[in-house]
Amino acid sequence: MNSNGKSVVSQLDFEQILENILDAVIIIQKDKIIFANRAANKLLSNDVQASLDGLSIALFMRPEDLTLLHKTISQNIFKDSDHSIVSVSIISETGNPKPVEIAINPLYDQETALIQLTLRDVSNRKAAERSMMQSEKLSVIGELSAGILHEVRNPLTSIKGFLQLLQNEPVINKEYINIIMGEVEQIERIANELLYFTKPNAERFITQDLLTIAKETLFLFETQAAKKNLKLEIQADGCPHRINGDKTQLKQVFVNLVKNAIEATPENRIVTVVLSTTGQQEQVLIKDTGHGIPKNILGKLGKSFFTTKESGTGLGLMITYTIIRNHNGKIKVDSMENEGTTFTLTFPRAE
Ligand SMILES: Nc1ncnc2c1ncn2[C@@H]1O[C@H](COP(=O)(O)OP(=O)(O)O)[C@@H](O)[C@H]1O
Ligand SMILES: [Mg+2]
Repeated sequence: MNSNGKSVVSQLDFEQILENILDAVIIIQKDKIIFANRAANKLLSNDVQASLDGLSIALFMRPEDLTLLHKTISQNIFKDSDHSIVSVSIISETGNPKPVEIAINPLYDQETALIQLTLRDVSNRKAAERSMMQSEKLSVIGELSAGILHEVRNPLTSIKGFLQLLQNEPVINKEYINIIMGEVEQIERIANELLYFTKPNAERFITQDLLTIAKETLFLFETQAAKKNLKLEIQADGCPHRINGDKTQLKQVFVNLVKNAIEATPENRIVTVVLSTTGQQEQVLIKDTGHGIPKNILGKLGKSFFTTKESGTGLGLMITYTIIRNHNGKIKVDSMENEGTTFTLTFPRAE
């Protein structure tokens, strides 16, 4: 731009320009609003004409969100480049809380300490993300349901057959009862594994500590491991290992992988969970010293109902892979026959 153009720009009425932009712009001093454009009035009070001047932004936020905003502002004020963005909810007088992203720009002036906040309503984007998650879930369920019907019908046919035989027997045949019980247990196992898909979850992703989840998981398997005299071990440095996620789902991942590891490992050996951080990634190894996975079946892992176990469901890895994908993570498997198997998971590290 030439110097002539510059002087024209400097004569523009910037307040007027701010009024008309579509994002909500607020200028605050401490927490007090000293300027809000039309979009901000609309967002905070549903009224473009309203005057928010002099009000505290604390009126429009949950206390924990305000604390987060303060923290980000104080971190930001010492950097003289770039803005930071926080994700919080805005509570207007009317209507439900709205998710917004707030960009923070200190307007560098030590004395007045003005901060410009630019708020973007992200409810539409959040709704789209939710419906994408939902439809992915539905498509997995759709794919699965044919398989489930098949897997449940086989034991049902057998149960029915043996019940008919029992009907015609003068005395109860223990053998038949045992077979029926076995089939009922198989249906029960399938139902248990699928609980995660049907259980409505709040889809609330918050910071999770992987060490806590690993400890809780190994605790669940203590008895099962003791039966085979297996050692269950966690290796972790003292650093925190945090990722964003849903605790129930993440625990399901650990449970499925540790369960497989224990099942594959002969007596008196060891199963290890190793936690580490590499760059921006958190890494989890689930290592066993078991029979390993033959090369020709590696490609089938994660396909629903693929199992090599007599009473397996073949759902564990499929569910595990789906959950990891939903957490933007990756999973890889290394296996040596008769030496053991290692599943390596990586997740983006939480800030
Ligand atoms: N740690 C492991 N060691 C050896 N084989 C494994 C391991 N984990 C999974 N597998 C193989 O993958 C198959 C599928 O596992 P999964 O989906 O959990 O179903 P299930 O455990 O019910 O068989 C298992 O039957 C087994 O053959
Ligand atoms: Mg399994």
